[in-house]
Amino acid sequence: MPELKVLNHDAVLAAVTPAEAITHVREAFLRHHRGEWVMPSKVYLQSPPHGDFRAMPARGDGLAMLKWISSFPPNPREHGLPAVMGVVVVNDAQTSVPLALLDAGAVTALRTGAIAAVAATALAVEGASSVGIVGCGLHGTWTARCMAAAGFEQGICFDPRPEAAQALADELGWRTGSLAEALAADIVNCITPGHEVVVDAKDLRPGLHLNMLGADGPGKAEATVGAVASCALFCDEWAQASHGGELTGAVEAGLITQESVTDLGSVLAGEKPGRPGRESVTLFDSTGLAIQDLAIAAAALEALSAGRVEAQTVVL
Ligand SMILES: NC(=O)c1ccc[n+]([C@@H]2O[C@H](COP(=O)([O-])OP(=O)(O)OC[C@H]3O[C@@H](n4cnc5c(N)ncnc54)[C@H](O)[C@@H]3O)[C@@H](O)[C@H]2O)c1
Repeated sequence: MPELKVLNHDAVLAAVTPAEAITHVREAFLRHHRGEWVMPSKVYLQSPPHGDFRAMPARGDGLAMLKWISSFPPNPREHGLPAVMGVVVVNDAQTSVPLALLDAGAVTALRTGAIAAVAATALAVEGASSVGIVGCGLHGTWTARCMAAAGFEQGICFDPRPEAAQALADELGWRTGSLAEALAADIVNCITPGHEVVVDAKDLRPGLHLNMLGADGPGKAEATVGAVASCALFCDEWAQASHGGELTGAVEAGLITQESVTDLGSVLAGEKPGRPGRESVTLFDSTGLAIQDLAIAAAALEALSAGRVEAQTVVL
């Protein structure tokens, strides 16, 4: 009978460092761009009035993966539970044998931070060194850790919860600051709940790179439509970004079309230009892709095979 390996939250984080996550996520974008990795659209299953479940499948490198994850915003208040919970299931793509179950929270944290570092490395102005973090919650923290792992050494952390900004700044040897100070960095990462705008057109300066990570579903935005439309635009995937990402408002307002936006994969592959010039403001819209999750799951399984991490085993 197949033996299913189970990697809980700590095992996933022990298996894959932020630096490894960056390498694997970058490679996943390239493989998907070349058509070697396959990713059907995300499926939403509503569970009113509590929230929804999302099924995110991908296949590549001999593995088939499904991330099955919830978004139940009332959970913390009503049940003392996280808003986002789930599992990643990995099967052998040749035999279909189930191989592993991984904690989806840890996989998501690593892959979300990693793509911010990949995009910043590809799109920020040469010599960019300072990082702003707007929103120092779970994913803001992992974004900062990955930016640090990518070699961006100075950072300014802003959060309306000063203790969250302070904890992150202390961990990385960065500093806390106001929203304006965080927005003055070379590379600004916005990773708030997306219920209020934190970037306006007046905040855009020549040479700035913005990673917009918080608006990962319909109805969320962290920048004004005018600010978005005045940047050189990049996204993880047009289909997701245009319907449930930072770009959605500008698309709906008729200010941008698919022709205005470049997929990050084509920039990484060297097929399309990245930053138009030193003075441009670049904006990367990250909505979060299943290929990123597969990249982390595959890296964790590699660490398991190499004996660098231990997992529990369940016989099916
Ligand atoms: N793009 C992706 O792949 C991806 C992946 C995971 C999560 N997300 C999204 O990222 C967002 C943050 O998720 P999280 O799990 O880190 O949430 P979280 O609740 O842990 O953190 C959010 C943080 O933002 C802060 N915040 C709230 N309003 C703010 C404001 N106006 N300015 C600055 N900070 C503010 C909060 O105080 C909190 O610390 C959510 O919208 C989530 O859906 C995106």
